[in-house]
Amino acid sequence: MCPGSFDPVTYGHLDVIERASKLYDELVVAVLVNEHKQGMFDLADRIELITEATAAYGNVIVDSFSGLLVDYCRDTQTNTVLKGLRATSDFDYELQMAQMNRELGGVETVFLPTNPEHSYLSSSLVKEVARFGGDVSRFVPAHVHARLSERVAQRGD
Ligand code: PNS
Repeated sequence: MCPGSFDPVTYGHLDVIERASKLYDELVVAVLVNEHKQGMFDLADRIELITEATAAYGNVIVDSFSGLLVDYCRDTQTNTVLKGLRATSDFDYELQMAQMNRELGGVETVFLPTNPEHSYLSSSLVKEVARFGGDVSRFVPAHVHARLSERVAQRGD
C-alpha cells in the first residue's frame, strides 16, 4: 500500500507507484481523507487524477482512508506499506512513522529511494509554483496540469 495526501499526484509519486507496482502483485494507492486540512483538490478529484495516471499499470487500485493507517491496513488485510524517500530529510519522520505503525499494528514499511530526477518534487511546491504562474508542466502529467491550471484560475490566488 502506498498512502499519502496526493494533493495532487506528481511525477515523483508516480515514479514510486510505478516501481512499487512491479514489486507486488497488487498495489493500493490510499488517499488520506483529512478533515482538518483543506487541500487544493477534494478527495474525488485526487482519486480521479491518480486513477487516470496509473490506469496503464494494470495492478494499481486507488482507494481512500480516514483515521489511522494501521486500522485501514487491518481492515484491508494489508501488511506492507511502501513509501518513497526523497532525501535524508524525509527519513527522520518516515522512520518514526514506520516504527509507530509497526508498534501499533505490526505493519511493516518498505522504503524506496525516489529517482534523483524527482527528489526535489513535492505537491506543496508544485502548487506554490503554479499559484504564482510558474510552469509546472514537467512535474505532473498533462491531465493533472490541466486541472491544476483550472483550479489556480478559479481561485485567483
Ligand atoms: O503525502 P503525505 O501527506 O506525506 O502522507 C502522510 C500519510 C498520509 C502517509 C500519514 O500522514 C498517515 O499515515 N496518516 C494517517 C494517520 C496516521 O495513521 N497517523 C499516524 C502515523 S504513525
